[in-house]
Amino acid sequence: MEQQQPHFLLVTYPAQGHINPALQFANRLIHLGGRRVHVTFAITINAHRRMIKSPHPDALSFATFSDGYDDGFKVEGKIQEHLDQLKRNGTKALTELILSNANQGRPFTCLIYTLLIPWAAEVARELHLPSTLFWIQPAMVLDIYYYYYNGFADVIGNCNNDPSHSIQLPGLPLLNSRELPSFMLASNTYDYLLPIFQADLEVLEKLSKPRVLVNTFDALEIEALKAIEKLNLVAVGPLIPSAYLDERDPSNGSKDYMEWLNSKPESSVIYVSFGSISVLMKQQMEEIARGLLDCGRPFLWVIRAKENGEEEKEEEKLSCRKELEEKGMIVPWCSQVYVLSHPSVGCFVTHCGWNSTLEGLFSGVPMVAFPQWTDQGTNAKLIEDVLKTGVRVTTNNDGIVVGDEIKSCLELVVGDGERGKEMRRNAMKWKELAREAVNQGGSSYSNLKAFVDECCG
Ligand code: UDX
Repeated sequence: MEQQQPHFLLVTYPAQGHINPALQFANRLIHLGGRRVHVTFAITINAHRRMIKSPHPDALSFATFSDGYDDGFKVEGKIQEHLDQLKRNGTKALTELILSNANQGRPFTCLIYTLLIPWAAEVARELHLPSTLFWIQPAMVLDIYYYYYNGFADVIGNCNNDPSHSIQLPGLPLLNSRELPSFMLASNTYDYLLPIFQADLEVLEKLSKPRVLVNTFDALEIEALKAIEKLNLVAVGPLIPSAYLDERDPSNGSKDYMEWLNSKPESSVIYVSFGSISVLMKQQMEEIARGLLDCGRPFLWVIRAKENGEEEKEEEKLSCRKELEEKGMIVPWCSQVYVLSHPSVGCFVTHCGWNSTLEGLFSGVPMVAFPQWTDQGTNAKLIEDVLKTGVRVTTNNDGIVVGDEIKSCLELVVGDGERGKEMRRNAMKWKELAREAVNQGGSSYSNLKAFVDECCG
C-alpha cells in the first residue's frame, strides 16, 4: 500500500511573536522532511492578510478562519474577549479542517500548536490526532509556570509581596518578583491569562509521554530543559524568522533604513524596538528619546504606526521628533533580522520578547534589556545574569525608566569598560553557539530531525 504523505497542521495564537517562529518551524519541517512533507498553517483572516505569499506553495498552504476580528483589534482591554471568540471559532474551524482533510484522503499526521490555545490540543484529542505543543518562550518560563501550578504558588505569591525576597525553584537560578512572568505578579491586570497557561500544562498531563518542543537550544538552557521530571522539553531553536514573513515594511520594499545603516561605522548604531504588541506611554517615549539623544550615537528606532482600533500613534507621543530625525532614523517597522545582522549595529535596546532576544543572540548583538510584561522580565534575567550579554534598565518609583538611566545602560554596553567588553565577548560566543545548534548535526537540528522522522514513520 502506498504510504501517506506526512501532513502537519500548525496553528498559532495570531500574534507576530507566535506566528514568526511557527512559520520558521514549518520551513524546517519541510526542509528536514524532504519533499514528502506538507504543512497546513491554520491562521486567522486578519493575521493572514499581513503575510506575504507562501515561500513554498507546493509544501506550505494556509487555511484561514475568522476570529471575529477580521479588521484587527485593539489589544488593551479586549484580549479576553478575543481569546474567547478565538477558542469558539477556532475549535469549530479546526474540527472541520481535520475532518474534511481526512475525508479527502489527505489526513493530518500531527497537530503542532503554540501557547494560549490549549483548545487546539483538545480538538486533536477528540479526533484522535497526535498533538505537540511548540513553546515559543524560553524553557525557564515554562518551568516557572509549571512550578507555580505544582506546589509553588504560595512561595511565588509571597515573593511577590516582598520584592527583596528571592525564590528557588528546582533547577532554576534564584528569582525575584521582577524576574517572574508578569501574570503572576500582584499588579497583574490580566487575571484570565493565568488559567490559560494552566490549561496549556493540563492538556499535556493527559498525554502518555508528554513532550514539548521549545524554541531554545541546549547550550542556552541546559538546566532549565531538565528542570521538570514529568515533562520532556526538547530544544529545537533558535527558529529565527525570515524577513518575508511580514509585509509591514515602512518603505514598500525600498528599505531606506538599510542604506542608512550602510552609511554608519561598524558597531556604532543603537537599534531600538519594543516588538509587535507593547505600547509605551508618552512619558516613557520622551525619556527614551532623551536617553538616545544624550548618548550621542546614531540610532534606528522602530515606532509602530497606529494599528486598527488604536487611538494614539506612538509617534504622536514625541515632542522632539525633528531633533531625533537629525541624529537617528525612525521607522514604523523594519526587517529586524536584517537590521540586527548589519555590521553597523552595535547595541539592541529590546523589550526582551523571546523572538527578539533570540534574534539578538543569533546576531551577536549585546542588549539593553527593557522588559514590559509577560515573559519579558524572565528573559531579561537570562540576558543579564545567565548569558551575561546585556544589562537591564531600572525603573523609578513611578515605573518609568528615565533618560539618564537609559544613557548609562547604553554607555555600559557600548563603552570601553571591562563589563561592556565582557558583554560583547559573550554576545559573540552565543552567536557561535546558536548557529552551531541549528546547523546540520547540531543539537536542535538533530532534535527536530528526530521529531520529523518519528512523525513520518
Ligand atoms: C510576544 C510577547 O510579547 C513576547 O514576550 C513573547 O516572548 C512572544 O510573543 P512580541 O512582543 O511581538 O511577542 O515580541 P517578540 O517575541 O520579540 O516578537 C516580535 C517579532 O517581530 C520578532 O520576530 C521581530 O523580528 C519582529 N519585528 C519586530 C520585525 O520584524 N520588525 C520590527 O520592526 C519589530
